[in-house]
Amino acid sequence: MSGGKHARPKGTRDWMPEDATARRRVEQAFRHTAAVFGFQEIITPTFEHTEIFIKSSGEGSDVVTKEMYSFEDRAGRNLTLRPEGTPGVVRAVLEERMKPPLRLYYHGPYFRYGRPQKGRLREFHQLGVEVIGERNPAVDVEVIQLGAWFFERLGIADCATQLNSIGCRECRPAYRAELVAFLSGRVAALCEDCRTRLERNPMRVLDCKRETCRLQFAEAPKPAGHLCPSCAEHFARVRAELDRRGLRYELNDRLVRGLDYYNRTTFEYLSARIGAQDSIGGGGRYDYLFEEFGGPSLPAVGFALGLERTMMAMAENPAPARRRLAFLVCVTEAQRPAAVDLLARLRADGVAAQMSYEDKPGRQFKAADAARAACCVVLGPDEVARGTVSLKDLVTGEQTEIPANIVIPEVRALFRD
Ligand code: HAM
Repeated sequence: MSGGKHARPKGTRDWMPEDATARRRVEQAFRHTAAVFGFQEIITPTFEHTEIFIKSSGEGSDVVTKEMYSFEDRAGRNLTLRPEGTPGVVRAVLEERMKPPLRLYYHGPYFRYGRPQKGRLREFHQLGVEVIGERNPAVDVEVIQLGAWFFERLGIADCATQLNSIGCRECRPAYRAELVAFLSGRVAALCEDCRTRLERNPMRVLDCKRETCRLQFAEAPKPAGHLCPSCAEHFARVRAELDRRGLRYELNDRLVRGLDYYNRTTFEYLSARIGAQDSIGGGGRYDYLFEEFGGPSLPAVGFALGLERTMMAMAENPAPARRRLAFLVCVTEAQRPAAVDLLARLRADGVAAQMSYEDKPGRQFKAADAARAACCVVLGPDEVARGTVSLKDLVTGEQTEIPANIVIPEVRALFRD
């Protein structure tokens, strides 16, 4: 078949049936893990008023300055396809007057106009959780643990958790002043982006990936070294609780995250397996965001994982070669009515079943193979006369004749992998 003349937009992808099946399995595993931790699902709109992202993700963040899909609707409203999930959840919690403490999870499509590359798409998917209304450092740990368990469940063994604390309103001004003083002497060596960040949100300079900039920061003051007593205590309790639960992590004193709303705990999950875009998930505390949205002071902590990156990091876990699908084959057209009846019985019992309308049995077997069916249920004149069917296992090639009245449990038994 030729490719046709229309291509999908840059930075998007198609999910072929096998990919879609694998993706649904990952989403299902996430829903299960989140539910086990007591979380409930929330679904918010795919687009929101632009201002909520400016207010939360941050005026100086790359997401807001360069990556938003913003548009004016026909009535002149400024709207944006959501680049991340947290602002919409915060807005919904306030607008719907939900009562904290809350444990919410979500998944869906998100949009960022970045330069597409391996692991970076313009339409991607996140799986995220938010705990709202809990200040206890043990909650930060519970959230980190949820992510770690999820990756473990998916068989991502090489996932490393990095941890940092970036302080609060109390300790940040003094730290910020010290950092700016340090960087001011080095402006000439910084990239364009870092110079802008220096004015808007100097701490984000530490996040720059450019080697020339990173060299400059080696000696720079780091947030974790400038915490006020209560942030220092929070951070110490997070680490102690991670240790107590046997969760491994690495301290990374430059982990400031790319969005502006964080305070205190920040963390990221990294996988060496997926290349330069090695962050498969990240999150942290955001104790001020509700106030900034005009709500009450509500502490909160959460994270989001990138679904595409997570799937890239999974061990080569090929989807089972065969689908849980039974394919009916009639040796001659005389068996077709019996086959159609059996098809209906299988389906009514919840067994996925299909048949081809080719008349030659060879072609029907070919169709079964092309559909990646797990087995064929063959009806020939002899079988019908004897009240049997032949069940062919398409994985082993084995064929057995069985009474027609036990075909449903036999097909089911064959599906059990
Ligand atoms: P984030 O670090 O911006 O955090 O994104 C979370 C994850 O989404 C990343 O670690 C990455 O795996 C994936 N991701 C981000 N951008 C792309 C892209 N262009 N293509 C593919 N994957 C991508 C947040 O979004 C926060 N809302 C997380 C959070 C929740 N913090 C507190 N609560």
